[in-house]
Amino acid sequence: MADYDVIVIGGGPGGYVCAIRCAQLGLKTACVEGRETLGGTCLNVGCIPSKALLHASHSLHEAEHNFAKMGLKGKSPSVDWKEMLAYKDDVIGQNTKGIEFLFKKNKVDWLKGWGSIPAAGQVKVGDEVHNAKHIVIASGSEPSSLPGVEVDEKVVVTSTGALELPKIPRKMIVIGAGVIGLEMGSVYARLGSEVTVVEFLDDITPGMDKDIQKTFQRTLKKQGLNFIMGAAVQNVDAKKTKATVNYKLRKDDSEHAIDADVVLVATGRRPFVDGLGLEAAGVKMTERGQIATDHWKTSVPGIWAIGDVTEGPMLAHKAEDEGMAAAESIAGQAGHVNYDVIPGVIYTSPEVASVGKTEQELKEAGVDYKVGKFSFMGNGRAKAVFMGDGFVKILADKATDRVLGVHIMGPTAGELIHEACVLMEYGGSAEDLARTCHAHPTFSEAVREAALACGDGAIHA
Ligand code: FAD
Ligand code: NAI
Repeated sequence: MADYDVIVIGGGPGGYVCAIRCAQLGLKTACVEGRETLGGTCLNVGCIPSKALLHASHSLHEAEHNFAKMGLKGKSPSVDWKEMLAYKDDVIGQNTKGIEFLFKKNKVDWLKGWGSIPAAGQVKVGDEVHNAKHIVIASGSEPSSLPGVEVDEKVVVTSTGALELPKIPRKMIVIGAGVIGLEMGSVYARLGSEVTVVEFLDDITPGMDKDIQKTFQRTLKKQGLNFIMGAAVQNVDAKKTKATVNYKLRKDDSEHAIDADVVLVATGRRPFVDGLGLEAAGVKMTERGQIATDHWKTSVPGIWAIGDVTEGPMLAHKAEDEGMAAAESIAGQAGHVNYDVIPGVIYTSPEVASVGKTEQELKEAGVDYKVGKFSFMGNGRAKAVFMGDGFVKILADKATDRVLGVHIMGPTAGELIHEACVLMEYGGSAEDLARTCHAHPTFSEAVREAALACGDGAIHA
């Protein structure tokens, strides 16, 4: 048993960042993690492994489709799936060990095991009870289940199973055209699987700007992904090596079935609070099963909560920002997260990135806005790398010119979006961006051109 200023439960991006920041602020800190490695969903079975497979499969796609166009001739590489998985695991290992190193460097104790909260001020790990002035819950999320669908992580898988399939499936059905479905669907489509995405709604990536939804879906179709939209999955009938997905089309209630070797269920994630003892501790929850918070404080004094287990987008960087803000608040400083400027990125090719309001949200709120749009077709650098598909769209207040939202589909969109994030964080205008010199030839010039299009007009449109 030991006494701590802070015990963080969960070693994902929310928890480990919070623990490190607490230690940096002079607080005696421990982090409880039940997995064998630190880094949570993100490093072990989420962001990092999926990006490794996206990178590997994108490289194959480049070799197969674009190398010859540049005079690079010869046989395309063949896929050694085992080695690709080993590369992915190596990337995971490097990252999770990195967090262990940071814990040692910052003198954060890693309490190995599953933690619970017997009472405010106490955390139980195994048989040991530790005292803590503050407890931060960062227990993350898990895949949500679908009625009539039983996951075995072999034939019917979540993203976790999809990251370590024993072989590349010939046919894959993805249930859900959200972020996981489209990223993992892209991976397997590039590796040769016939991928069909079954989505309940009429548009992919709900919540994204409509322009992006339409163009993105068109591009993914060109890349070989099939879509069945407006389809309510009834159940999945799984056999040993294949499964049938039964669905009803919402428009006419007609019933259909399709087969595949693997079905990926990617219909969202839900907060993970199992075994924490929150009810007994008196921690209030929201109707959607998240821990209710106000500035990262729960309803029980001394217990805080951050990341996927709380409200808001389930994103690693949102969890990290909350981790830092909670640590700073615990240390008596002014923790801060600007929830209006949290970017979202889909790491397909082209990438899709978005921050702030969509056009639909502005319309609904009755805001008078203007649109500056610029196609990557007008960007020399993008054309040189066969990435002319896509655009930058800037939404700015009509009267003040203040930038309210930016939506990008195109090369390195996930990097370009930060130009908009910094601008919006400082309350900048489209003219501020348009008057900033951008190096040539860069993809970033497309962002500036979209800003110019909010005023007198883009040059290369
Ligand atoms: P988690 O990362 O889920 O970490 C929680 C940790 O707490 C876990 O390790 C768990 O074992 C531990 N834990 C839980 N309960 C206890 C307990 N009682 N005792 C001890 N330990 C406990 N987000 C992005 O921003 N970008 C991406 O590219 C991205 N890609 C993703 C790809 C996939 C396939 C998935 C599934 C998710 C992806 N996400 C991505 C989402 C991202 O992983 C999460 O938003 C992020 O991990 C949330 O961080 P967290 O710290 O709140 O929780
Ligand atoms: P999601 O919420 O992004 O998408 C789920 C999709 O499934 C939606 O389009 C929804 O309409 C659809 N759906 C729900 N029920 C359905 C049904 N019965 N039949 C057919 N379709 C149905 O959830 P996803 O993709 O599982 O991702 C979970 C979380 O992980 C997301 O919140 C995301 O933020 C995070 N994540 C982030 C990534 C990134 O930042 N690049 C990558 C992967 C995940």
